[in-house]
Amino acid sequence: MTLDLTGHFMIEYGSGEKFTLGLELPTDPRWINIAEKNIGDILVDHAYCEQKAASSCISLIMLYPEREKLVEILTPVVAEEWSHFERVLEELKKRGYSLGRQRKDEYVEALTKLTIKGGNRDQQLVERLLINALIEARSCERFKILWKNIPDEGLSKFYYELMVSEAVHYKNFLQLAKEYLPEEYVNKRWKEILKQEAGIIATLEVKGDRLH
Ligand SMILES: [Fe+2]
Ligand SMILES: [Fe+2]
Repeated sequence: MTLDLTGHFMIEYGSGEKFTLGLELPTDPRWINIAEKNIGDILVDHAYCEQKAASSCISLIMLYPEREKLVEILTPVVAEEWSHFERVLEELKKRGYSLGRQRKDEYVEALTKLTIKGGNRDQQLVERLLINALIEARSCERFKILWKNIPDEGLSKFYYELMVSEAVHYKNFLQLAKEYLPEEYVNKRWKEILKQEAGIIATLEVKGDRLH
């Protein structure tokens, strides 16, 4: 894991592009050790994460159809997340696993509780966009760990590609949030959410069968 001087996570990929994810707390190093022994479970959990990512973008488009920029940016993301879901299914199949039932997603449940209830339509939208950005950022960090550490070459390459793709989504959600509320407000709220997320990560049990 490369950390920059401010303690924010650095993502660097092929093109040499670098940027920080902003996360406050790195994943517990024990996670990768147990995750690599449970790759079938990780893939099942991951498949559902992709499915939820697609459906979350569909919900946003259905709830905010009048927000042209949102519809324009998120429509291709739906297709991309669904293609990730298909690709995870292929990886499961290649390894003789099947798609098991969905596990309880304690991480996302805890994050959802962070949203400020009420407020106007734009405030509610920005809350949702920031939670989505956060899930993308944390997924990106986990994919980076999988890419760097799993011995299965094909899967390692797969996670590199997904890391790059989710990094773009992370930026999309943050950019959209700044379309609907002033940048200063969004940056302040984003910092608050990042702190709260670190608290959630610190208290959740480290489970090697979950992506988060
Ligand atoms: Fe995805
Ligand atoms: Fe994504």
